[in-house]
Amino acid sequence: MTTTPDKTPARIAGMFDAIAPRYDLLNRVLSAGLDQRWRQRAVDALALSPGSRVLDLCTGTADLAIAIAHRHGDASVAGVDFSGAMLRFGQRKIRSAQLGRRIHLVRGDAAVIPLADATCDAATIAFGIRNVSEPERALAELARVLRPGARLAILEFGQPRIPGIRTLYSWYFRYLLPAVGRLVSHHQSAYSYLPASVGAFPPPAEFVRTVEGHGFVSVRAVPLTLGIVSLYEATRRPSA
Ligand SMILES: C[S@@+](CC[C@H](N)C(=O)[O-])C[C@H]1O[C@@H](n2cnc3c(N)ncnc32)[C@H](O)[C@@H]1O
Repeated sequence: MTTTPDKTPARIAGMFDAIAPRYDLLNRVLSAGLDQRWRQRAVDALALSPGSRVLDLCTGTADLAIAIAHRHGDASVAGVDFSGAMLRFGQRKIRSAQLGRRIHLVRGDAAVIPLADATCDAATIAFGIRNVSEPERALAELARVLRPGARLAILEFGQPRIPGIRTLYSWYFRYLLPAVGRLVSHHQSAYSYLPASVGAFPPPAEFVRTVEGHGFVSVRAVPLTLGIVSLYEATRRPSA
């Protein structure tokens, strides 16, 4: 049975504040370094034009914002997140990569994105939408801040499709990952919340329909690494 995890904004922000110091380390270890490749695939999906203004929603420690800025030397990125500690770690990385003039981090909620209408040429959200208490509202906000025809790339965890691998992965994800996460982060529940929240997230075909219902066209889910992660690609509906 799938139980719905508690996604109260204060609880989620507090949880990410607490794990922020070990967040990047655990990402690399628990994904065997694949997480950065998944973010590169999201950058590919944006197919950015020169000088693009990109929003990275739920930016956390800014890995995807940095990947975008590294790949596109003339792009500017606004990273939005409601966890102050995640943003502080992100800001340090941006400073040491000397990207402070092109990446701007803003504290804010996905339900009320602090940007004006139709001001972004593209948007990303990596491993964030599953944590948002009202994902439909966040999608409507993304549609509001994107200009018509702009690209959206969403990364989110899923389930491997091949039955044997699915069983093995499920054991890793439900038992080993939470144990390692607890040991390294010293947080009792954050890495048990991860498999619980992934289990409660809709399957790719259903989430594609949700994205379509909130201002986007040409929506598709691309499975990455045997379906462990899905990359959702979409285009902001051109205005009528
Ligand atoms: C799993 S982390 C992903 C961070 C980053 N995108 C990455 O690829 O590593 C999820 C992030 O989403 C943020 N978040 C969750 N719900 C949010 C909301 N409603 N508004 C803003 N940020 C939110 C959390 O604070 C956290 O930093």
